[in-house]
Amino acid sequence: MTLTDKIAIVTGGAVGIGGAIARRLAADGAKVLVTDIMPEAAAENVARIEESGGTASAYEVDISQPEQMRPMIERAVELWGGLHIVVNNAWGALEPDGTAITLTETAFDRALDASQKAVFLSAKYGVPHIQASGGGSIVNISSVHGQMVAPSCLAYEMTKAAIIAMSRQMALDFGPIGVRVNCICPGHIVTERQAERWERNPSMLRFFDQHYPVRHTGMPDDIANGVRFLCSDEAKFITGHTLVIDGGMTIQLQENLVIDTARYFRDHPEIDLDTQ
Ligand SMILES: NC(=O)c1ccc[n+]([C@@H]2O[C@H](COP(=O)([O-])OP(=O)(O)OC[C@H]3O[C@@H](n4cnc5c(N)ncnc54)[C@H](O)[C@@H]3O)[C@@H](O)[C@H]2O)c1
Repeated sequence: MTLTDKIAIVTGGAVGIGGAIARRLAADGAKVLVTDIMPEAAAENVARIEESGGTASAYEVDISQPEQMRPMIERAVELWGGLHIVVNNAWGALEPDGTAITLTETAFDRALDASQKAVFLSAKYGVPHIQASGGGSIVNISSVHGQMVAPSCLAYEMTKAAIIAMSRQMALDFGPIGVRVNCICPGHIVTERQAERWERNPSMLRFFDQHYPVRHTGMPDDIANGVRFLCSDEAKFITGHTLVIDGGMTIQLQENLVIDTARYFRDHPEIDLDTQ
């Protein structure tokens, strides 16, 4: 096991991508603090980890509340005596996204708190513990939206792009003290939440799959495997890196993609574009 005796925190670790990351790190030997705004769901994931022989503990946190970040970090240290890994996975904005005109100031501020500020504070309080524990790794979950843009996604895209920049900055600042910082940009990942959405409209998911050169969208384990690798010693020379895990979706020339999309619609009239 590559992460034996490592101590890790995964935010938003109850379900979805974070749920899979917590299980993956635990399966590799790490002790994992599963932190989430949904305590029952976090406890369920912990039970799942323990049933598989792993070590984990649940912790309730709202990462958009700055005063909750330090106690979250300290909980892992208090439980297991150190800290090696922090995975900033949760994205806790609540209000609908929009343009600079439609987005409310409250939603803008909340997005900053639930993303950049949480990443900032987890490093502020976490890095000294990681250094004291002999070094380790931070992985921040951004998105392909941190690199490409879609309409009316100002809050999401500013925070996801900022996370890429923050990861690079922190890699430079903390490399000398033994802390590597990397970032992952997932493409579309069919989490439990997304799967519910696609059950209502399976033809649309098949259409989404066609956008990907590998001809399928991703699963939470695709991201969890990337996180596990970046946290392991196999990645000891990798820092400040943005790992895009998207089945090749973002490397495509847009004009070809548009033509392929048009052809796909022509050949699949059953697609329901309106049920999302
Ligand atoms: N699913 C995708 O297609 C996709 C694609 C690109 C990037 N991402 C990113 O991956 C990360 C995880 O997304 P997901 O799709 O697994 O989400 P999800 O909604 O399936 O799960 C998110 C988890 O975070 C928890 N959470 C939400 N707000 C929180 C808060 N304020 N404090 C603490 N925990 C909170 C939820 O309770 C849940 O357990 C996010 O950063 C998201 O932006 C997801």
